[in-house]
Amino acid sequence: MPLNRRFTLARRPHGNLLPDDFKLVEAPTADLQEGQFLLRNIYASLDPAMRGWLDDVPSYLPPVALGDPLRASTIGIVAESRNPDFPVGSWAAGFNGIELYSVGIPGFTQPIDPNALPAITNHLSVAGGAGLAAYFGLADIGRPLAGETVLVSAAAGAAGSIAGQIAKLKQCRVIGIAGGPEKCERLLRRYHFDAAIDYRGKSVAELTAAIRAAAPGGIDVHFENVGGNILDAALLCLRPRARVVLCGLISEYNSKPVGARNLFQLIIQGARMEGVIVTQFYERFPEAVAALTGWLKAGELVIDEHIEAGIENTLPALLRLFDGSNTGKMILQLSEV
Ligand SMILES: NC(=O)c1ccc[n+]([C@@H]2O[C@H](COP(=O)([O-])OP(=O)(O)OC[C@H]3O[C@@H](n4cnc5c(N)ncnc54)[C@H](OP(=O)(O)O)[C@@H]3O)[C@@H](O)[C@H]2O)c1
Repeated sequence: MPLNRRFTLARRPHGNLLPDDFKLVEAPTADLQEGQFLLRNIYASLDPAMRGWLDDVPSYLPPVALGDPLRASTIGIVAESRNPDFPVGSWAAGFNGIELYSVGIPGFTQPIDPNALPAITNHLSVAGGAGLAAYFGLADIGRPLAGETVLVSAAAGAAGSIAGQIAKLKQCRVIGIAGGPEKCERLLRRYHFDAAIDYRGKSVAELTAAIRAAAPGGIDVHFENVGGNILDAALLCLRPRARVVLCGLISEYNSKPVGARNLFQLIIQGARMEGVIVTQFYERFPEAVAALTGWLKAGELVIDEHIEAGIENTLPALLRLFDGSNTGKMILQLSEV
């Protein structure tokens, strides 16, 4: 039985994540039951949503239990198997945990073709939660039409950069909001956005003025990843019948929610705001993965991945999502291939 290392929840965090909230523990891997298999996790997706799963509040998933490893999407190689659908040496991806080995549960973990995408890690980025949220948020809620103006927040991040690029593929004018000149430069040069706004140090009034300068006719679709001041400013710039896609509210994940303060704009503009959660689109994942993979392989979609290594670096890597120092989809390498 291989020795497992697991990054577990030691206590429920309050506010920002602290080292004492977690404990790295070692334990032998469990014996497999019929139908189970042991996945040697190679890469784990680090997502802002992981912060929410640590709170004991109503959500679309139960909170991570104290003593359990942090829940995470992982991809890995089957190391032992009592399930013919998951032969030893094959690749699989699914909802597992930050640990070197996970006992795979069919249904939660699916076989994957390691050659289906240009890089194996693309299963956690383009074909992972970020890509799927961008795809379904726009396809089903934002529904941008050619010639419309689309605003994206946290636009240099994983979900935002993909959402903005999909909107460009739909012939829209795309404006991105991101933190700092380097990320704004990346929006324009690498993702081919039409305009970029650095939100750092800007009040709601200054943000609103910057959005209006970039989109004098207003915003048709807003893809929101942040909340707070950015959402307040975006709401003030909506066009009639605009659609606001609520994908995330990362500015509120470590603190008490401030709420949206300009909701009256939805009434004035006859606009709509709707949340997207990828788990509700499970049956349509193949449609999204096919479209995203097609764009990626055709060179019409670029993805940046920020890979850190070592289970002992889980917390610093996770914190990068909240201080903005990640430079693409945040991924943790847990083992060598
Ligand atoms: N609904 C779904 O199913 C779904 C699925 C995946 C992701 N999401 C959501 O999508 C959003 C982006 O996630 P991601 O995985 O793509 O991460 P990401 O954008 O790659 O990284 C997070 C980025 O958020 C920005 N940020 C962090 N704290 C902020 C704050 N207080 N104010 C403004 N910006 C802040 C930072 O960029 P800057 O440097 O630009 O500040 C940071 O780089 C999150 O809200 C996440 O919850 C939702």
